[in-house]
Amino acid sequence: MSSTQRPFPEDFLWGTATAAYQIEGAAHAEGRGDSIWDVFARLPGAVADGHNGDMACDHYRRYRQDVALMGRLNMKAYRFSTSWARCMPDGVTPNPDGIAFYSRLVDELLAAGITPWLTLYHWDLPQALEDNGGWANRDTAYRFADYAALMHSVLGDRVRIWTTLNEPWCSAFLGYAAGIHAPGRQEPRAALAAAHHLLLGHGLAAAELRRRDTEASLGITLNLTVSDPRDPGSESDRDAARRIDGQFNRIFLDPLFRGEYPADVLADVAHLGMADLVQDGDLELIATPLDLLGVNYYHGESLTKDLAGAQEQAAPETTSVPGQATRAVASPFVAADGARSVRRGLPVTGMGWEVQPEGLRRLLNRLHTEYTGPAGIPIYITENGAAYDDVPDATGFVDDQDRLGFFAAHLDAVHRAIADGVDVRGYLAWSLLDNFEWSFGYHQRFGMVRVDYCTQDRIPKASALWYSSVASGNALPA
Ligand code: NOJ
Repeated sequence: MSSTQRPFPEDFLWGTATAAYQIEGAAHAEGRGDSIWDVFARLPGAVADGHNGDMACDHYRRYRQDVALMGRLNMKAYRFSTSWARCMPDGVTPNPDGIAFYSRLVDELLAAGITPWLTLYHWDLPQALEDNGGWANRDTAYRFADYAALMHSVLGDRVRIWTTLNEPWCSAFLGYAAGIHAPGRQEPRAALAAAHHLLLGHGLAAAELRRRDTEASLGITLNLTVSDPRDPGSESDRDAARRIDGQFNRIFLDPLFRGEYPADVLADVAHLGMADLVQDGDLELIATPLDLLGVNYYHGESLTKDLAGAQEQAAPETTSVPGQATRAVASPFVAADGARSVRRGLPVTGMGWEVQPEGLRRLLNRLHTEYTGPAGIPIYITENGAAYDDVPDATGFVDDQDRLGFFAAHLDAVHRAIADGVDVRGYLAWSLLDNFEWSFGYHQRFGMVRVDYCTQDRIPKASALWYSSVASGNALPA
């Protein structure tokens, strides 16, 4: 390593992340049941061009090749999710054939020297449970804990890092308030109920996994934002920033780390009956001590209530593609009282999201000071990445300097945060492969490896080659 390189701490975990519905395909193989995404994708207009996850990256059949690719890219870890509907097609009855896939995948990873990092829920609820009310029904939280116990009974001997939920904000607010994610409901009260029951399910599962396995690393992954007032001198912009911070970040962080919902958020959503959802003992379960916090970061927000002269920025997981944006931006924030995220003139990705790496450094410092530091637990970046309009050459190679620059700038922010004293132990890039980007189908490509969806060929992009050398050297170039 040359002296001008910037090293990361020893044992820093380098890897990539994916999710079951986005890559597996084989949507009805070996007894897999419908998840809410299978059903949502069949609704006319729900997903761009009627795309769905039936085939996706065909990872279910090509997982050996994909693990070998990770090995060639010098990856030390792989964050994947298990499909509840594959493992328990009706949400309650185990399906040994489906579960066996994950056992094979884990064995393959371990044989390649890659640490498996398992996420139990990445948005694909079994449809049978949605038919029973979904996450708006408290019972789903208990079913989730049963599913966690089942997965641990099969994989706990080999999987040592478990995260319960991925981005519960999206499950609750995009799924049950904005209606742009499965199950496509637009019911603000149900969205709040979903948020609480997701947290309760997390707490029940974390407590159960802890009871079964005192050595495993347990965590949750949140999508967090940095919420700035557009005009710091404006009281209404400051209030907009406070509300979004409350309904995006603190509504999850405070119960997880402090065992209470923030008073200002409860007041903001009081008319929706948030307090009635919380039963005795819920918050103690939700605050079950964890071993790590997973942070997914894409961009921050500049908030205002006065749209004059401003262009709105799409909320995370949504985009500014014409026809998609207006619905998406406003409604996830169930009681945000007119708060809008506006663009600041920063460069944007293919999703229309501003590129704001300094926000990641600030976010990490804030988490360390207010939440993870006092709890004495480390942070892992469990997702960070960007979609761009990739242009392959005749061989299929993509010279994606934009994505490479995105990774470099955000890794620089992580490096600086570590120098500031934040305990960040790893970075899992989103994503290994181009994949099914939810409502945008296959149009938005986040992969560092290109997938040719006609041939299913995998072709590493320039960003993958760069990331591979950073990982193997455990350092950023000068
Ligand atoms: C976060 C989600 O976890 C993932 O599924 C999604 O593809 C990326 N963000 C990009 O939107």
